[in-house]
Amino acid sequence: MNMQKPETLLSQDQFNKAKAPGSPPVYSKGGQPAYFSCWDIHAYYGESYIVQGISFDIREGEIVALLGRNGAGKTSTLRAIARVDEPELRHGEVWLDHKPLHEMSAYQASQNGIGLVPEDRRIIPGLTVEENLKLAQIAPPKGWSIERIYDLFPRLGERRTQEGTTLSGGEQQMLAIGRTLARDVKLLLLDEPYEGLAPVIVQEIERTLEEIKSHGMTTVIVEQNAIAALHLADRAIILDMGQVVFDGTAQEVLDNETLRHEYLAI
Ligand SMILES: Nc1ncnc2c1ncn2[C@@H]1O[C@H](COP(=O)(O)OP(=O)(O)OP(=O)(O)O)[C@@H](O)[C@H]1O
Ligand SMILES: [Mg+2]
Repeated sequence: MNMQKPETLLSQDQFNKAKAPGSPPVYSKGGQPAYFSCWDIHAYYGESYIVQGISFDIREGEIVALLGRNGAGKTSTLRAIARVDEPELRHGEVWLDHKPLHEMSAYQASQNGIGLVPEDRRIIPGLTVEENLKLAQIAPPKGWSIERIYDLFPRLGERRTQEGTTLSGGEQQMLAIGRTLARDVKLLLLDEPYEGLAPVIVQEIERTLEEIKSHGMTTVIVEQNAIAALHLADRAIILDMGQVVFDGTAQEVLDNETLRHEYLAI
């Protein structure tokens, strides 16, 4: 991976100044404010320069599949958007529903509607399913009610008194998604929700993601199972070496064998 710093990299101070006149295009090309927009984001793990100038917009209610080979920078991009400590966002802007996430901590970004469901699910040990969900609602604003989450995932309702970490992998994924919906989420970021799950469970989670979509939830899904993600998504963004190499409809990717071979190995 290229360890050079980008020429566009500004110090934090310069970066803040650069936000005044001549600021980046936080509005999509049609002139309407994009619901979500990241503009020229650059992020680092220490000196490792990983997210190398990524920009894209998402419309409200859209589902975007963020794809690319192992190590392309998908997880790092989600983490930079969610403003977690690593990788560190050193340049660029991230806007969600008119709010500047690039000026926020991870906690503030989550209070302003970012809902990252990480790959490792992070179910809290020692708590039941219901306690895991209730804990997510301790700090307002609240999102979906617990009962509504059980309607979406009946298995969670059946296991409400069971300790979360004793659930199957698929159920833990449901709990991780449910816990995120329990907060007031505007942009759901799913990192490999199907990973390690049996096909029948993948189908079950796919159905619930379709249902979440029907409620108008704006979603980014990162998946190794690109075909499954493309069937769910409206749009696809493909990353390679920390940069966007394709941004178009999901159908275009399904139809483009060269693109699939080159960047997705499918
Ligand atoms: N904590 C870290 N410190 C240093 N480099 C890292 C760290 N995490 C990831 N990287 C590097 O950043 C690059 C992008 O990794 P990232 O996890 O974002 O890729 P990915 O597209 O999510 O890959 P995968 O499909 O394997 O999950 C890789 O070269 C990886 O080695
Ligand atoms: Mg990853």
